[in-house]
Amino acid sequence: MGSEKKGWDYSQLRKYDISLEQIPRLDYQDPKVDELMAENEPVVITGSKLVKSAEKWNLDYLEKHMGNGDFTVFISRNYKFKYYDEKKILQKLPNNETNRGVEFTPPTKMVEMKLPEFIKRLKEWKRGDERLYLQQGLNDTVGPAIVRDFLKFDWDFCNSIQKKQNWGPLTSNHLLIGMEGNVTPCHYDEQQNLFAQVQGYKRCILFSPDQFDRLYPHPVYHPHDRQSMVDFERPDYSKFPKFKDIKGCETVMEPGDVLYIPIYWWHQVESLMRGDHTITINFWYKNGPTGPITYPLKSHHKVAVMRNVEKMLLEVLHDPKEIPPLMRALVLGRYTE
Ligand code: OGA
Ligand code: ZN
Repeated sequence: MGSEKKGWDYSQLRKYDISLEQIPRLDYQDPKVDELMAENEPVVITGSKLVKSAEKWNLDYLEKHMGNGDFTVFISRNYKFKYYDEKKILQKLPNNETNRGVEFTPPTKMVEMKLPEFIKRLKEWKRGDERLYLQQGLNDTVGPAIVRDFLKFDWDFCNSIQKKQNWGPLTSNHLLIGMEGNVTPCHYDEQQNLFAQVQGYKRCILFSPDQFDRLYPHPVYHPHDRQSMVDFERPDYSKFPKFKDIKGCETVMEPGDVLYIPIYWWHQVESLMRGDHTITINFWYKNGPTGPITYPLKSHHKVAVMRNVEKMLLEVLHDPKEIPPLMRALVLGRYTE
């Protein structure tokens, strides 16, 4: 970076008591990009033209060309948008039965909105109002100009990564339009992600899957499955003591940058405070066939094993409340020192 002028400054970053290194930033032609990706290590890829054709996607352009479809918008009373899986919430079914979910009050509201309404609310927003975050898979309801831009993404670039890294198919492209200061709290996904920054600046904080014990994810059956229970700004060290030792890495994404977020890597994403709105397009890929497993197991394999054990226990016990006593009986005094 050197003396290069940045479009942001450090006062726009939230302050945390976490030890963070910088994620390497490398030109897309640098052979080290492939090496890092092959090791499932994050890297910021600069200079690619992956979403260059979307560089003109400002709010006016999107309003004009996006079409009249409905978009999924999350509404939050604070700045956090912690994802939840609706299918895991306890619901009364029409036949008076209940699903197997847990009682849960969603922290955000999910609504469907036309783009002009969303943009109007973005433009008229003032401090203290509810915050909005549009998160929508790109589908065939978008207008022809957007389809043309989409077709002009540098598909050769991402197809070649997909091939070289032996990934499975592209499953979706999500469009994320956020307000300054919005935070997507720390979670991991079960797919490979090329996260392409289009407009504005986003800070991405990543943690390796080997930090699992320090991040205390909610149980698998919980609507916040794959999300950390730790509040980074006010960590409850009595409940989450190992969070004191957390080690991660971070970067601030600029328009044109592409971040590789490896599968199972934890990430927290923050639109910089007092900046402009942000636009991101991500590319989610299924993981490739897992080659021969080697021992000792890698941390992401262990995460997959733990997920399966949790799922199996719920399957046989039916009631999530039965899991903790069984786990305690299994472990305490037998597998604990
Ligand atoms: C992702 C993700 C959140 C955001 O792309 O996997 O978590 O706010 N994005 O950009
Ligand atoms: Zn994610």
